[in-house]
Amino acid sequence: MSVAAIEQLLKQTMGLDAASVGSSVIHRAVEERMQRLNIDDPVSYHARLLTHDSELAQLIEEVVVPETWFFRDQKPFEALRAELTRPPLATTRPLRILSVPCSTGEEPYTIAMVLRDAGLSPADFRIDAVDISRHNLERARRASYRAHSFRGDDLAFRDRYFQRTEQGYHLKPEIRDSVNFQQANLLDAGFASARGPYQVIFCRNLLIYFDRETQQRAVDTLESLLARDGLLFVGHAETAVLGERCFEPLEHARCFGFRRCDQPQAARPSEPEASSLRWAPLKPRRRRRGRPHLVSPLPEPAPVAEEIAEETPDPMEEAARLADEGHLAEAARICEGLIAERNEPQAFYLLALIRDAAGEPEEAETLLRKAIY
Ligand SMILES: C[S@@+](CC[C@H](N)C(=O)[O-])C[C@H]1O[C@@H](n2cnc3c(N)ncnc32)[C@H](O)[C@@H]1O
Repeated sequence: MSVAAIEQLLKQTMGLDAASVGSSVIHRAVEERMQRLNIDDPVSYHARLLTHDSELAQLIEEVVVPETWFFRDQKPFEALRAELTRPPLATTRPLRILSVPCSTGEEPYTIAMVLRDAGLSPADFRIDAVDISRHNLERARRASYRAHSFRGDDLAFRDRYFQRTEQGYHLKPEIRDSVNFQQANLLDAGFASARGPYQVIFCRNLLIYFDRETQQRAVDTLESLLARDGLLFVGHAETAVLGERCFEPLEHARCFGFRRCDQPQAARPSEPEASSLRWAPLKPRRRRRGRPHLVSPLPEPAPVAEEIAEETPDPMEEAARLADEGHLAEAARICEGLIAERNEPQAFYLLALIRDAAGEPEEAETLLRKAIY
C-alpha cells in the first residue's frame, strides 16, 4: 500500500482532493506524522489513522491551508453592506450569518466589523464561524493578529477595532464577542441538522480544494442552510460551482455573491478590465517570487488534424488565445470552469495573470500560490 490510501481517506473525511494541493504536500505531512510517532511504514500509519480519530485530526491539521486575512477581496464585504439596506437583510433581526470555513477568524470578524459600521447593534446579529481545524479555531478565539492578517491600503478598521500590544493587534471585545466559533466538518452528514437557517453564508476558498462531486455535496448542505432569498458568497475561483443551481448572481461587481432563488441560473463570471496580455504557461513545480509578468506567447500547439482541432479546441489554449486578444472576461470564465472541473494548474496561473492585469495583485498572488502547489 502507498500513501494513495491515505490521500483517499483524507478525501473521504474532509473532502481534500490531493490534486488541488499536490500529492507532495500530503506526502510531507504523512512523513512528519510518522516521524513523530516513530512509525516507519505507511501501511502501519494508515492502520493507525483508521483506528485513532485523534491521529486523523492531527493529520488534517498538517494538510489544511489556513491562508486568510481581514477584508479579503474587499468587494464581498461592500456587497454585504449594500445588501443590509434592502430586504431581507434590512428587515430580519437578528440576522444569522455563517462563515465556513472561518480559519483563524479574520473573515467572521470582518463581517462583524461591517455590520457594526453599518449601525447594527450586537443584539441585531449572530455570527457562527466554523472550521475543521482546532488549531485555527484556537487562534481565532485568541483574536490576536500580526501584520500578515492586514493587507491592502485601507487599514482604518485596524485603528477602530484593534488595540496594539507587544504581541500584535488585539481585537476589541465588542467585535470578538459577536462571533461564536465551532469546530465541525462541512461534509459531515449532521452538519446542517444542528444549524441554520442563515440569511448570509460565506463559504470562500474551500470548494477549490474539493473535486466536482464533493463541491456539489457541499453546496447541497449550504443551500439547505440558507433562508429563502439568503445570500451565499463563494471565492472568486468558485463561482462556476453554482452554475445550473438555484442561485442568481448579485449585481454588485466582482463580489462573488449569489442569492438563493427558485430557478437554476448560470453563474456569471467576473469582468476584469481588458488589457493587452501575453502569458507563459506554467512550468511545473517551479517556485516564483513576486507578481507574474505577462510576457511570452503560447508555444506552438501539438499538431492535430485541422478539422478535429477546430471542433474541439483545448480549453486551456482557447483561454490563452482569448487572453492574448484582450478578451479577459471570457478567458477568466474558461479558467474558472477548468479550476472547478479539474483544478487545472495552468488555469490558476492564467487567472492569476488576468487578476494582476485587472489591478488585483492580492488575488493574483493567491492564485499563483495555488498554481505553484
Ligand atoms: C484557505 S482557508 C479559507 C478561510 C476564509 N474562508 C477565507 O476565504 O479567507 C481554508 C480553511 O478550510 C478549512 N477546512 C478544510 N476542509 C474543511 C472542511 N471539510 N470543513 C470545514 N473546514 C474545512 C481549513 O481548516 C482552513 O482553515
